[in-house]
Amino acid sequence: MEPNIFPKEGVVSLEMERFPKLTDVLAEARRVATFLWEKGWAEASGGNLSLDVTDAVGGVASAGADWTPLPRAYPSLAGRSFLVTGSGRRFRDFARQPEAHGVVLSLDAAGDRWARLWGGESPGFRPTSELPSHLAMQAHLRETARAERTVLHAHPTELIALSHLPAYKDEAALDDALWGMLPEVKIFLPRGVGLVPYALTGTEMLAQRSLAALERGHAVLLWEMHGALAVGRDPAEAFDRLDVANKAAAVLLKCLAAGVVPEGLGKTRLAELTQAFGLDEKIR
Ligand code: 13P
Ligand code: ZN
Repeated sequence: MEPNIFPKEGVVSLEMERFPKLTDVLAEARRVATFLWEKGWAEASGGNLSLDVTDAVGGVASAGADWTPLPRAYPSLAGRSFLVTGSGRRFRDFARQPEAHGVVLSLDAAGDRWARLWGGESPGFRPTSELPSHLAMQAHLRETARAERTVLHAHPTELIALSHLPAYKDEAALDDALWGMLPEVKIFLPRGVGLVPYALTGTEMLAQRSLAALERGHAVLLWEMHGALAVGRDPAEAFDRLDVANKAAAVLLKCLAAGVVPEGLGKTRLAELTQAFGLDEKIR
């Protein structure tokens, strides 16, 4: 039997009755939050998540709701609702008490302000400081009719370490090295990892640099000297993508620590994988 990783405390929110379909969605987000903590990729309040839950929560906030303006408008997200983790909140606490450390927020008909629909039930609650990046990603996913609905940011250790090494500060070099480490990387990330040059956390600059990498077709972005961000159809897929990318980074670092610059799988084997799995490669 699977262990119960969620203690009973805090699980029952009165508001839950209003949004019965949210329970299943939350269960997966909470499970992934636990994985992130166990992986060591969510120290303190590191990392955040957004998930388009419009289908699960149905309606939008009422006109009389308490609206908070956004720094800019996201017309393609008008009327949509997102589960978002809180700023300064721990992923491990979100897993335990999502209604206290996460929120479902709805954007209004112009997409330039939001109101709380569910959650945020703790003093001083604010949505993640990376909301500009999350909303920019979510808007792009909708505008391009991509299937992904989750944006997940975390601090995967080996990926961050790799982003400090001068040899991998070039996207093509980074991707060639990661693909070469084990076949799964090419299979799960056929378009590679997008390198996002350092920008101050929580800023529109970081959002715009991330958007540029997403537009190049990447599903995982490496935020230089900070962390990584993945999109996925659900939290589990976004987590898997981070996990595969970080595994490759970990293997690479182990080889380097052993004093070997690994040759990797090489072009012929990678081409064989592309052929065998019918992989949709990058478009840049
Ligand atoms: P938040 O706590 O505001 O989500 O910030 C955490 C983080 O990882 C910033 O990049
Ligand atoms: Zn971060």
